[in-house]
Amino acid sequence: MKIAIIGAGYVGLTTGVCLANLGHQVTVHDANRERLDALLAGHLPIYEPGLAEAFDQARCNGSFRISLSVDQCVPDAAAVFLAVGTPARQDGSVDTRQLQAAARQIAPHLKSGAVVVVKSTVSVGTGKVLRRHIAQQRGSMDFAIGSNPEFLREGSALNDFMCPDRIVVGADDDEALEVLTEIYQSLVAQGVPLLETSIENAEMIKHAANAFLALKIGFINEVADFCELVGADVTAIARGIGLDGRIGSAFLTAGPGFGGSCFPKDTRAFAAAGRQAGAPQALVETLIQRNERRQVDLAERVCRELKDRSPVVAMLGLSFKAQTDDIRESPAITIGRILLDHGIRLRVHDPRAMANASLVLDEIECCRTPYEAARGADATVVITEWPDYAALDLTRLRRQMRGRHLFDFRNLIDPLAAARSSLTYHGVGRGSMLPQTAIVPSTLPTRLSDEVAMAKAART
Ligand code: NAD
Ligand code: UGA
Repeated sequence: MKIAIIGAGYVGLTTGVCLANLGHQVTVHDANRERLDALLAGHLPIYEPGLAEAFDQARCNGSFRISLSVDQCVPDAAAVFLAVGTPARQDGSVDTRQLQAAARQIAPHLKSGAVVVVKSTVSVGTGKVLRRHIAQQRGSMDFAIGSNPEFLREGSALNDFMCPDRIVVGADDDEALEVLTEIYQSLVAQGVPLLETSIENAEMIKHAANAFLALKIGFINEVADFCELVGADVTAIARGIGLDGRIGSAFLTAGPGFGGSCFPKDTRAFAAAGRQAGAPQALVETLIQRNERRQVDLAERVCRELKDRSPVVAMLGLSFKAQTDDIRESPAITIGRILLDHGIRLRVHDPRAMANASLVLDEIECCRTPYEAARGADATVVITEWPDYAALDLTRLRRQMRGRHLFDFRNLIDPLAAARSSLTYHGVGRGSMLPQTAIVPSTLPTRLSDEVAMAKAART
């Protein structure tokens, strides 16, 4: 099928490349000329594991093209996907201006019977508004609107797209549903469930899914705070409750709070839409506040431990999660800003996101390795769960540092190993860890698992 995609960001590019590799003829357009030029030259504007290879493959087999204007890619497309940004307005509600602009641009070029598919995340009711918008521009109703929310995660976008838990398609007429179903036919044939529903349901499913996942994270973070006060270990609690099939183990990792371009904005949008509809989402409203507060609390936790007059902190990880260079609403950026405001010198490392972070954080010193970042630092703070940080040589790290504080906001590091390297370990929700100073690792029975050993040591 001939498909046009408007918006060449994380979602537009992933969707375009994957649909092309599934056998469709895809053309992608973006309003950003620089982005298009880079793509035409064969360069991806974002880092996403596997995307560069899939992009090359799709370009080589001729199924993926870049178009400089909508009038080149829209007229012969049976489906036109809108994958533009939907940022938050001041009050949290969705700013649909990019969508409206894209709708205006494509309207005159749509072929009769084409389906306009909203891939961007929107509040319930947006599809209907867009339909009116396009009809006004076009002067006819010979097109359909569909909703096909995207559930991919950055860092695992390709796999999430090609092997999704489900595909949701919403439309108000059967022909549009048929087009949407045909697009995903090869995935459905492999057993991926496809849910056909109304546009409103599809829009709501996306927001509710993100809100629910964010609530899971918010819940485990609250439990982490609780654990710290009562001598429990949140990683054990998450395992223990996650094994219950009704709860599930995903999205139960305590950390510095959720960030990224989606959960923060989508929870705000869901809450704003609920308020507007007269159905306030109290759980989500509280979650938003608690998540924002958490990042401030963790930054203050670091500041409290720094006694030196001109403190230096090594910050490991800047992206909002591992395997991406995306720093949008990254907890590391919020925490970094607070530390800088406290007059702390920040030496930073991230495998992918240093260039992006330098654009928004003044005065950070970018370092080539975590050890270089730790040089002269009073504290090292691990904020993003890059696998490299789980495998740090802690003795080498400690040797580089002036102080000994190790803040592990992702619980990546073995507290016992940190203690053996004379580091003062601060995880999140690890209340049963060894007392931070009086550790004599050699006296711990080696037969016991670390967890049991730590719990024992904490009691003595
Ligand atoms: P992005 O900012 O990476 O990309 C959006 C692109 O749209 C930009 O390149 C921009 O130049 C382009 N654009 C804006 N207006 C345009 C117009 N009128 N015509 C052509 N191009 C235009 O955004 P993203 O992260 O890909 O997200 C897109 C949408 O998908 C959002 O609604 C987001 O909430 C949703 N979403 C994102 C993810 C994710 O992981 N990033 C996952 C699922 C859903
Ligand atoms: C999220 C959803 O997982 C996707 O399904 C959705 O498509 C996407 O938002 C979207 O709507 O745009 P993403 O933001 O890419 O995907 O990444 P996640 O893996 O969900 O992580 C979001 C944030 O939560 C990160 O800051 C991450 O570190 C944090 N997180 C995640 C935790 O703190 N603990 C966890 O257990 C999981």
